[in-house]
Amino acid sequence: IENRVRLTLEVTEAVVSIWGNDRVGIRLSPVTPDAGNTPPDSNVMATYGYLIQQLNQLNLAYLHFVEGATATSRTVPEGVDLDALSAQFEGPFIGNNNYDLAMAIERRAQGRIDAVAFGRLFISNPDLVERLRRGIELTIAPRESYYGGGAKGYTDWPTADASIASSSAK
Ligand SMILES: Cc1cc2nc3c(=O)[nH]c(=O)nc-3n(C[C@H](O)[C@H](O)[C@H](O)COP(=O)(O)O)c2cc1C
Repeated sequence: IENRVRLTLEVTEAVVSIWGNDRVGIRLSPVTPDAGNTPPDSNVMATYGYLIQQLNQLNLAYLHFVEGATATSRTVPEGVDLDALSAQFEGPFIGNNNYDLAMAIERRAQGRIDAVAFGRLFISNPDLVERLRRGIELTIAPRESYYGGGAKGYTDWPTADASIASSSAK
């Protein structure tokens, strides 16, 4: 276990030594299958539990998990409890993966997350926070568009106000 987490710890320590612990957070994907060409860890609870204990000593700004398989599902392998792992972290914890507003509020109220990171919803809703606040319908982008390699369908989605303005001008 020490050897599996060695690189992550050494890199984190090096970055902290330059930027300071309060400006460094870490994002981990404990169960995402086939991240790059690295297979999932064979003992997620022990390996990540140890890593988090070590990270606690660095007093980082936050820990951030991709909870489940990135942008696919929140299902985790048998025997894995990501909430139990993140609970071991002593600083702020950011949850991510397939959140909607209701789940964000619920998990925040349960004390399972301190904050939530939205990914895909921010692509097609550049004004996501405002839409959530005002209960405006969200645009769901087709997956092909944001992996297209260009701006079209990726960074050119309008805000809700811009959509309303352009449809009333027509
Ligand atoms: C177009 C696109 C590119 C992404 N690139 C990265 C990346 O470079 N590194 C990373 O850790 N996650 C990346 N992700 C994953 C997101 O950070 C996030 O974990 C994932 O979309 C799940 O969150 P969501 O359900 O809110 O979208 C990417 C996701 C998308 C849609």
